[in-house]
Amino acid sequence: MKIDGRWYRTIWLADDGWTVQVIDQTRLPFEFAVVSLKTVEDAAQAIRDMTVRGAPLIGATAAYGVALAMKFDKSDTHLTQSLGLLKAARPTAVNLAWAVNEMQQYLAPLSPGDRVAAAYARAAQICEDDVAQCQAIGESGCDIITRLWKSSGEPARFNVLTHCNAGWLACVDWGTALAPIYKAHDAGIPVHVWVDETRPRNQGASLTAFELRAHGVPHTVIADNTGGHLMQHDRVQMAIVGSDRTTAHGDVCNKVGTYLKALAAHDNGVPFYVALPSTTIDWTLKNGSDIPIEERDARELSHISGRNAAGKIETVQLIPDGSPALNVAFDVTPARYVTGLITERGVCKATREGLIGLYPERAREAAE
Ligand code: MRU
Repeated sequence: MKIDGRWYRTIWLADDGWTVQVIDQTRLPFEFAVVSLKTVEDAAQAIRDMTVRGAPLIGATAAYGVALAMKFDKSDTHLTQSLGLLKAARPTAVNLAWAVNEMQQYLAPLSPGDRVAAAYARAAQICEDDVAQCQAIGESGCDIITRLWKSSGEPARFNVLTHCNAGWLACVDWGTALAPIYKAHDAGIPVHVWVDETRPRNQGASLTAFELRAHGVPHTVIADNTGGHLMQHDRVQMAIVGSDRTTAHGDVCNKVGTYLKALAAHDNGVPFYVALPSTTIDWTLKNGSDIPIEERDARELSHISGRNAAGKIETVQLIPDGSPALNVAFDVTPARYVTGLITERGVCKATREGLIGLYPERAREAAE
């Protein structure tokens, strides 16, 4: 995606050919800063503190984290330790475990001397595959937007609601939920996006709004509680969100608050789509209730950062001294509230049959 006329991905190698560079997402939207990751510990820390976040980007960063680990010590012991360190960085997005397992399967059989080049090559391929998958999701999702826009009489404004950030910042490029929006906008559909602010870390207000503005897509930031009201008043034609883990039966785990939007969409007959690459499907799980849900530091809820009148970033406290706060980072939307899953292989029902129809090679391992 372009920022100030320059084309960026969210992760790339520096000119030295081995240092990994990422955009520091904790400083957006006020500062566009690039951070260098030089060790596997740097990569794990960037995932933990959400310098990088979003399911596919976490996976890509972990893959490069393994490459960094191999650069400094190619031994079996260090490989095993590094895989464990990265896997433990965040629990919910299955892309992290998926990418780490991919690296393990690829590198473990190799002799240590071959591991560095192989690790960088595999990490680069994981990134390329993610870009291709997100582009394909964008095409399929754009077809849905176009169909819904046409069938609703080609209104001058077609309102799509999204929650959290499932755009290019969450992936390597394009995004999942936002890819269809970018494609539809570029194709001339008059898309307008309702951007849920996404408390507590405000990925919508800070990141989705930043992306959409940079691409020129009309949008409005709303408080998280506003979507239901807008749906009741026919001001949302469609919702699209991303996913951190989707079960083999189509339950979807995404940023906390997604479930409430799905309920409101269901009650108001608003189509509710989830866009995800297959790396986000956990074929071993049937029920969303079995997905590990991350709980983060309560300080992310009790405090908030923003730019003050002097232009400085400041953090202030929101709740009384001594009041406890609970920061649950994700929730699960049952498959019955999902109109369709938009994947890189097309769109399917949020059911086991639907997913296996697109991924027949997974039928044996998909939880019954
Ligand atoms: O806690 P985050 O910011 O990593 O959560 C991200 C989300 O919930 C996204 O919606 C999800 O990863 C899908 S990203 C394409």
